[in-house]
Amino acid sequence: MRAGFKLLRTSTFRLAALYLAVFALSVGALLGYVYWNTAVLLERQTDETIRAEVQALADQYRYRGLRGIIDTIQRRSKDDRGSLYLLSDPQGRRVAGNLETMPAEASSEDPWIEFPLDVERGGRIERHVARAFHTKLTGDFELVVGRDVDALRQFAGIMRVTLFYALAIALVLGLGGGLLMSRNFLRRVDAITAASHTIMAGDMGGRMPVSGSGDELDRLALALNQMLDQIQRLMAGMQEVSSNVAHDLKTPLTRVKARVEAALRSGNAGEYKAALEKTVEESDRLLDTFNALLSIARAEAGQARSGLEPIDASQVIADVAELYEPTAEELGGNLQFDVAPDLNVRGDRQLLAQALSNLIDNALKYGAREGQGPEIKVTGRVEGGNVVIAVGDHGEGIAPEDRGRVTERFVRLDSSRARPGNGLGLSLVSGVMKLHDGALVLDDNGPGLLAKLVLPLQRAAS
Ligand SMILES: Nc1ncnc2c1ncn2[C@@H]1O[C@H](COP(=O)(O)OP(=O)(O)O)[C@@H](O)[C@H]1O
Ligand SMILES: [Mg+2]
Repeated sequence: MRAGFKLLRTSTFRLAALYLAVFALSVGALLGYVYWNTAVLLERQTDETIRAEVQALADQYRYRGLRGIIDTIQRRSKDDRGSLYLLSDPQGRRVAGNLETMPAEASSEDPWIEFPLDVERGGRIERHVARAFHTKLTGDFELVVGRDVDALRQFAGIMRVTLFYALAIALVLGLGGGLLMSRNFLRRVDAITAASHTIMAGDMGGRMPVSGSGDELDRLALALNQMLDQIQRLMAGMQEVSSNVAHDLKTPLTRVKARVEAALRSGNAGEYKAALEKTVEESDRLLDTFNALLSIARAEAGQARSGLEPIDASQVIADVAELYEPTAEELGGNLQFDVAPDLNVRGDRQLLAQALSNLIDNALKYGAREGQGPEIKVTGRVEGGNVVIAVGDHGEGIAPEDRGRVTERFVRLDSSRARPGNGLGLSLVSGVMKLHDGALVLDDNGPGLLAKLVLPLQRAAS
């Protein structure tokens, strides 16, 4: 019973019922039209014929008198085509016609009468229905002209029954079809619901059933499955990130703890001071890591999107490059920059500056050849509808197979472990680019790394 109610509540069933109603209505209208055009019109035609005949006979009577009408009635009575006549005198006796007696119904006010008629067919008497027009002629003669309408009535009856059954069959078939359709639909919806429940119960590998028909439900199931794939991927990524975070924070904390313990054991004021200084240093690094993680999370979540505004990236690039110029020179290298004017983008000035700083910082750390200072070139120009900010160095570069993973959190290549860093720099750059609908592209600088920030050029910048 409950399943039945559920079925009635489905939108498919409602739709099917609506279609059914429209269908039944049009079938009804069609059959009604056919009925009207045959049975009703035939009956009308009969009435008109009778009326015309009455008119003709009345005319006969008027112009040719009793003799004329009797002649005509006798003549017409002979060719038996279902026509009925009766002319009676003022005493009610039959004067002419093929009806034996005046039907009792003739006494009514209505000139149109219907009465039973016994007809002989192959030796058997059949009771038919006759329809007739009854009128009084001058001199108290009475005239009845009618037709045997039994065949007509039977025909109309058959039409009505046919109409009824046709409608009934259409309704039953339509209803059955609708039920079947919605039952099928419901079963698939139930399957999807069941799948969602197993997934919610913890089976992240579960997927929605797909029938393969490619219909709306299939498309829905496919979309849900894609969503689940992505959720699963994100969850796996998050798990990795959190274990990486835990791991990366454990190492410096362990170091801090060991150093403090050692200082405590020594009982020496000088050691205490050194340990505390180291602890402050280490805490700063930890804070940097946390801040970087938070920035990445914010950038990736797109929260800062509202902070994007039309800015001139040329200025940002020049500012950051100038800031790092002395550092490069201190390291025995140099930093050159070549920036085109009016690099208009929609962006967050501070985040873009941070991203570029991270790239330059990497170039300073990893971009020098053995025994030489870093040689860094920063450029900013428009390329094919994009603003491209590039930082090139002449170090070892990153092998093509590593370019994908260095943007993941905490990933540092083995050759870089000796340098300070937390492996979050490129992750932040990548997150900032995502926020700006741009991309971080790592290329070969032959030799060295060419790191490019590609941002959509904003033409209508103010
Ligand atoms: N300019 C570069 N040349 C060579 N390797 C680089 C360069 N920039 C980044 N890398 C590699 O990518 C890794 C990830 O960079 P990043 O996320 O900035 O972390 P970090 O700078 O803290 O090591 C670095 O550890 C290094 O191995
Ligand atoms: Mg870095």
